[in-house]
Amino acid sequence: MNSFGRNFRLTIFGESHGPVIGVVIDGVPAGIPLCISDFEGDLARRRSGAAGTTPRTESDTPEIVSGLLDGHTTGAPLAILFRNENTRSSDYSQFRTQPRPGHADRVAEVKFGGHNDLRGGGHFSGRLTLALVAAGVVAKKVIAPNEGCGPHPKATIVELGGSTVSAEWPAIIATATAEGDSVGGIIECRTEGVPTGIGEPFFDSLESIIAHLAFAIPGVRGVEFGDGFGSARMRGSEHNDLIINAEGTTATNGAGGINGGISNGNPLVFRLAVKPTSSIAREQQTYNFATGQVESLHIGGRHDVCIALRAAVVVEAITAIALAELMGER
Ligand SMILES: Cc1cc2nc3c(=O)[nH]c(=O)nc-3n(C[C@H](O)[C@H](O)[C@H](O)COP(=O)(O)O)c2cc1C
Repeated sequence: MNSFGRNFRLTIFGESHGPVIGVVIDGVPAGIPLCISDFEGDLARRRSGAAGTTPRTESDTPEIVSGLLDGHTTGAPLAILFRNENTRSSDYSQFRTQPRPGHADRVAEVKFGGHNDLRGGGHFSGRLTLALVAAGVVAKKVIAPNEGCGPHPKATIVELGGSTVSAEWPAIIATATAEGDSVGGIIECRTEGVPTGIGEPFFDSLESIIAHLAFAIPGVRGVEFGDGFGSARMRGSEHNDLIINAEGTTATNGAGGINGGISNGNPLVFRLAVKPTSSIAREQQTYNFATGQVESLHIGGRHDVCIALRAAVVVEAITAIALAELMGER
């Protein structure tokens, strides 16, 4: 579904080349100071323009049409819209009969009987993450109403195109671009200041809610907390986090700040694997449903060479949303 949560409840709507995309958030406490300029920093981090990102540029100006009065939230649903301006829908018509390998074109065609909006990837476009980032701006204010105290998620790229050396990334992106290809990356999110006791086992554990939201980000292929998959190759003596004081601070953080689905007061740490963009410029072979043949496909249009470059702030947003949701249970 396109709605998430009980306490900080979101509904995402819109399509990449429709008139608007946006989010409605229910459960935002009244009286939180909020203005358009609060969104600018995070929206700028998601915006395209840098090498390796799509040449489609949008102003991404939020319009708050409900839930805000005199610079404060009112307690009514907060509705935030963004107009789609820079669209070129003709680039997408061929994908109805010849779906892009790796993208949602074919599954959406089957599931929605051909009624899905294919333009710009429709509802499956990375553009919808703009709404997640906007919700994240609000969630960050809900979880840390006073600047400096409360949880502050910070996400960064830690690996791109298989390299952990950031100085190598521009060349990796330039080579992939020149070859008409794409690259993936790993984003790490670290949140200090999460109080002990956040998370509702069994089914709404802190990991479950983060993973639930993480897989709403298009292109995410994996998640690991703390030592993650590496823990399977460790001894208990290596993976166990030694508690060193009465606050529950641990000497290491192999658990990523969570035990039993509940935050333990140490930094919340997880990583997401982001796939290489499926829309690549180089020729591919794929099935043509009109001719019944496997044929060559040339994808035109404007695409990110590396999705991860724009996704770190989206990862921060989903972390803040997860915490707003679960802190509302206390
Ligand atoms: C910020 C962002 C930008 C994206 N840009 C593109 C893009 O330019 N081209 C593309 O094919 N996919 C892009 N994607 C990924 C697709 O939306 C995604 O691959 C598609 O919906 C299929 O979903 P899946 O990869 O999770 O299976 C982007 C994703 C994000 C988060």
